[in-house]
Parts: sequence; structure tokens; C-alpha cells
Amino acid sequence: MKNNVTPIHARQNSARPEMAGIPNNERIIIFDTTLRDGEQSPGASMSVNEKLRIALALEDMGVDVIEAGFPVASEGDFQSVSLIAGQVRNAVVCGLSRAHKTDISRAWEALAKAERPRIHTFISTSPLHMKYKLQMEPEQVYEKVIESVTHARNLCDNVEWSAEDGSRTELEFLARCVEAAIKSGATTINIPDTVGYAVPDEFAARISYLMNNVPNIDQAIISVHCHNDLGLAVANSLAAVRAGARQIECTINGLGERAGNAALEEIVMAMRTRQDYFGYGNNVKAETITKLSHLVSSVTGFVVQPNKAIVGANAFAHESGIHQDGVLKHAATYEIMTPESIGLNRSNIVLGKLSGRHAFREKLAELGYELGDNALNDAFIRFKALADSKRQIFDEDLIALMGEQSRQDGNRIKFLRLAVTCGSEGPQRAELELEIDGDRLRMAANGNGPVDATFNAVREIFPHAARLQLYQVSAVTAGTDAQAEVTVRLEENGKTVIGQSAHPDTLVASARAYVHALNKLLIKRQKTEPMAMGA
Ligand code: KIV
Ligand code: ZN
Repeated sequence: MKNNVTPIHARQNSARPEMAGIPNNERIIIFDTTLRDGEQSPGASMSVNEKLRIALALEDMGVDVIEAGFPVASEGDFQSVSLIAGQVRNAVVCGLSRAHKTDISRAWEALAKAERPRIHTFISTSPLHMKYKLQMEPEQVYEKVIESVTHARNLCDNVEWSAEDGSRTELEFLARCVEAAIKSGATTINIPDTVGYAVPDEFAARISYLMNNVPNIDQAIISVHCHNDLGLAVANSLAAVRAGARQIECTINGLGERAGNAALEEIVMAMRTRQDYFGYGNNVKAETITKLSHLVSSVTGFVVQPNKAIVGANAFAHESGIHQDGVLKHAATYEIMTPESIGLNRSNIVLGKLSGRHAFREKLAELGYELGDNALNDAFIRFKALADSKRQIFDEDLIALMGEQSRQDGNRIKFLRLAVTCGSEGPQRAELELEIDGDRLRMAANGNGPVDATFNAVREIFPHAARLQLYQVSAVTAGTDAQAEVTVRLEENGKTVIGQSAHPDTLVASARAYVHALNKLLIKRQKTEPMAMGA
């Protein structure tokens, strides 16, 4: 038994090259899996272009590793990993694979253009998963660990191995598998709490056990990957850091399977705000958190709950008189972090109809959006159209507008035009024009109200069997001229997708949100659910 785990902090680990900024022994590696585990959230699917946009923003944010997808899962996943690998230069780009040689080789193919590739291979190690999911004996799994990691390491010198359901794996067996994986060439060992079952002390003890009982543990980085089924993903990840873990896997807004993964923004801000306690830093530029949160929310259609830590709309709002009074006297009385530290600015610039391109660019920059000339032109045209129908443009309007812009790229179905007849006399009727794979198609339909008529018209133009599970409207800001933000959830063969849109006309937003959901469905249809494939 090694007597304690502290020396790992000081060890120079060959698996972890020095990077500019915080010295290695004081830095936690931030591994973002929004594009892989995040996309496994029921309803969240992203197009190849949307994934690329998020990957570039994550790189800009300073995350160390971007898990770009699961290349064997679908042609779309392969393409997005390949595209991201070709464009991300600073962050490590990682592709996930099961323990099969063919999966691993496919991941490697997708990573061909990466400057800093990583193959991530996993297999279940818990008694439950081995018996029922894999139908394999522990010794067979053990051999598979060696075979899969050896194969991955023959292709790539940066290999991560994960013990799926690691938090429910027998400790001795886990330690044997970890030792074998490191011996076979794994440079990062990831211990997932796949089902969100762990609690902080127990999970930390598991990491300590590995630190103390795996003889070659100093030749790899220990990583954790926690799910949030009991709301403990962030607490478990941070407890694991105290026990020696040096990589945390997380997602923007805590997106992910079921109740999600540990939220990146919570991990980063907890380590920053309580540096005194944790003593470690990371390379993430916290000021980009708000921008990434908005981007991921608008691309996936997953609305962030108002009381969500760090990025919820109320996270920095003070309603009670006592709190407001305290904050006015000294912000630190009730604020443990400043809104500015996550890129949420208390703005001075208010935009309106007469605002010019320069003010618009400044305002977007203030909100965290740096656009190239073409994207700025497109956004400015949309802004002018919005300003024509709305007196004052608030930050929320611009965030919604940018979300709308990010949803347009690469869609097979595009909204062109909608005219609706409605009112007390009926019948309610919608005339809709869409573009599908470049062809313009127009149809009219009646319905039980204007929304029903609009959705019937969509179904006339693009027949499909998906069921509408949710239709929800909220106002982006106050006022009767506020934009309506519409969320639509569709279900087809057990797969759900979410579409979103914002527009001053509720019916236009409704049609667009439905079309957005249909585009997601087209992506989803091509995809085999990774976890359904077994390991
Ligand atoms: O939750 C999990 O176990 C995973 C692994 C594939 C790392 O996502
Ligand atoms: Zn996971």
C-alpha cells in the first residue's frame, strides 16, 4: 500500500504534456463531452455544422479535451469527428469506441486529421453489466481490456480507457483492469459513475483505493465521469479531485444521458470560487461560459432552467429587498462570484431601430459573440428586421436572434413563408412554403386553431409519423411586442427531438420550431443509439 495520495500532485506525468498557463501539477484537465454524451440526451441531436461550431467555441473556451463523438455510431458521427479533428488545433480531439477492434480503428480513421488525437475506448466492468449486458465472464472482460487498449495504443499514443459502470465495480477487479489498461498503454484511466449512483465520500474513497493499490497508477492520469441521477455529479467529481483525479469529464449546461453529466460551468466556477479549498486551477476562460451555455441551449433546444447554478437566468438575480439592499451596499454580501466572471455583463449599450452596425457588433461582443464579416452581415439584417417590429431590443432578444441564426445552417428543410387566417369566425387556415433539399413546396391546411393549421400544413408538405409530444410558448422579454419563444418536442419510434425558434410572430416561431425539430429527426434517423449498441 502506498501511504498517501498526495505525491501525485507533484509528479510529472508522461501522459500529460506541459501546457502554457497553469503548471501541470496545479491543473485539472477539463474534458468536455457535450458533443458525445451530451448528444445522447433524449431529444438532443446536433447537425455536423452545429457540432463544429460548438467544438470551435469549446476550443476558444480553453477546454483541454473535446470528445467529438462516437465515430462508429453513424456516418454523421464519423463525419463530425472527422471535421472537428481537421479544424481544432489546440485542444485534444477524442473519439469514443467500444472495445471492438473495428470500432477502435473506425475512431482512429475519423481522427486522421487531428493535431492532437485521442482514442477513448470503454468496456463495462461491474458484475451487473458483465453478466446481463455483455454476457461475458470477468476474465473475458479483463482480456478484452488488454486487447482493446493494446490495439488503440498501436494506433495512437494518447489512449483513454474507461471502466463503464466503474462506481458499481468490485474494487479488486477494477484495480486489476486499471493496472492492465495502463500496462497495455492507456495514458488516461477514466472511472465513470455511469448511472449516477455514487455519493461523494464513497466515490473519493474509490479513487483513493486505486491511487493506493494500482502499482503503475503514476503512469496515467485518473479521470472521472459522473452522471447526475441523484444530483451529485459535480459533488462526486470534485470529491474525486481531492482524492487524486486530475481530469474531469463534463458537459455544458450539464447536458447528457438521463439526468445529464456533471456541468462544466459548475465544476469550473466551484474550483475558481473555492480555489482556497481545492487548490487547483484549469485552463477554461470562465468569461466564455455564458456564451457557450446559450449556444448549446439554442442548438439543442434544451432550455436552461431559471434557477440552474451559474447559467440560469436567476443565478445572479436578487429579488428580496434585504438582498438587493445588501448587494447595493457591497456586491459580495450576496454574490460569491460576479456576473462578469462568467461573461454576463451589466450592459450600458441598449439597441434600437436606429442602431448601426458598429454598435451592433460591440453589443454582440459584449454578449460573447465574435462574428466574422459574413455572419455579422446576416445577423445585422435579422436584427434590423426585428428592430422594425419591436421598439427596444434587449439582450435576451439578441441571444434569441443569435440562437435563431445558429439553427439555420445545413438544414435539409427550411422555412420560407407562412400566412395564417384566424379569428373567431374560422376556419383557421395556414398557407406554408418550405424548401426541402432545395425544392420549394407550398401547401395550405385547415386546423383546430392557427397552430394546428400550421402544423397540419407542415405535415402536408413533409409527411411523417412523428408524434407531437410538447408545444410550449414563452415570451423572451416583457411587453406585448415581445418575441415568442416556441419549443416543440417530437417523438418517433421511441426517439425524441426538440426544436426551438423565436420570432415576434408566435405562429412563425411555431412553424420554425416544428421545422427545426424535423431537421433534428432526420439526423436522429441515421443514428444508432451508442449505448444501445452494448460494449
Ligand atoms: O457514462 C459512461 O459510462 C460513459 C462512458 C462511455 C465513458 O459515458
Ligand atoms: Zn456517460
